[in-house]
Amino acid sequence: MMTVMFPEVRMRRLRRTPTMRRLVRETIISVDDLVLPLFVDDRIDAPRDIEAMPGVRAYPLSMMADVARDAESAGLPAVLLFGVPMEKDGRGSQAYATEGVAQRAVADVKDATELVVMTDLCLCEYTSHGHCGLVDGGEVLNDETLELYADIAVSQADAGADVIAPSGMMDGMVGAIRGALDANGYHGVAIMSYAAKYASAFYGPFRECVLSTPSFGDRRSYQMDPANAREALKEMELDLREGADMLMVKPALPYLDIIRDARQAFDVPVAAYSVSGEYSMIAAAAANGWIDLHQAMMESLLSIKRAGADIIITYYAKDAAVELGAMR
Ligand code: PBG
Repeated sequence: MMTVMFPEVRMRRLRRTPTMRRLVRETIISVDDLVLPLFVDDRIDAPRDIEAMPGVRAYPLSMMADVARDAESAGLPAVLLFGVPMEKDGRGSQAYATEGVAQRAVADVKDATELVVMTDLCLCEYTSHGHCGLVDGGEVLNDETLELYADIAVSQADAGADVIAPSGMMDGMVGAIRGALDANGYHGVAIMSYAAKYASAFYGPFRECVLSTPSFGDRRSYQMDPANAREALKEMELDLREGADMLMVKPALPYLDIIRDARQAFDVPVAAYSVSGEYSMIAAAAANGWIDLHQAMMESLLSIKRAGADIIITYYAKDAAVELGAMR
């Protein structure tokens, strides 16, 4: 195919100046692509640092409106809310309580801003055993859990959520949630499914933040085996057929191939969640002076976009927004 070669062809011609590089750049990240995860903790009345994620904090409910206004002023279009309840129990009942911490936070953020409000829908932040579903005899139950997911979805929609993001990896969860939303008149509430969510070591810092490390076993009976790519396509196809409006791949950097597969196979928006461990790796190396924080952050986000993600959920969203404002 290529007949002309060096010295007629010189690839470096188009790399000579910053403006030339801008002109031929293939992938552009925009602040419009970014979603900031936010943690609201019912047990605190001042911001709580997360040791393994320097710069990230959990906030009390009283601060959520301000925190959201900040994200909006940075130019971000959306936030993804996680709640840490006052009390956990076996059924995670604070996850679907009308006055649950996440529900109240949604209402506050909607009142204060025009942001798209996404809610993580799971039980693990709310259950005493830390699993993403109901547990019986050491097993995480699937179908019984779906009933609770349906209740959580409706309670989040009642509070004003625009997008429900189920992350528990139970079979049938998207269909159960879509059915419950529609039955309650919430036809306009969208579902962004954590469709291809892997059983990953990169969630460690997040679990420290929301205290959701399972008290026994691990999540491998519901989250995906990191070795599997074809299975991810199947998960995503099923979630689309059950009514997902957007698909998510999680984590992002170790799964760029899956993001690419999703982009090629489906025509819905593909989101990638650059998870807590990805944030911590860059933050820790940068804190040691081993890499440049801003360059490593932007390069990571760019690679996720280049792989095919339309939406990137990242704890660096605000920093990246600032960087993008300053950059050309
Ligand atoms: C809840 C959930 C988790 C994350 C997002 N939603 C944790 C888990 O599955 O253990 C991880 C996010 C992160 O690490 O940044 N199921």
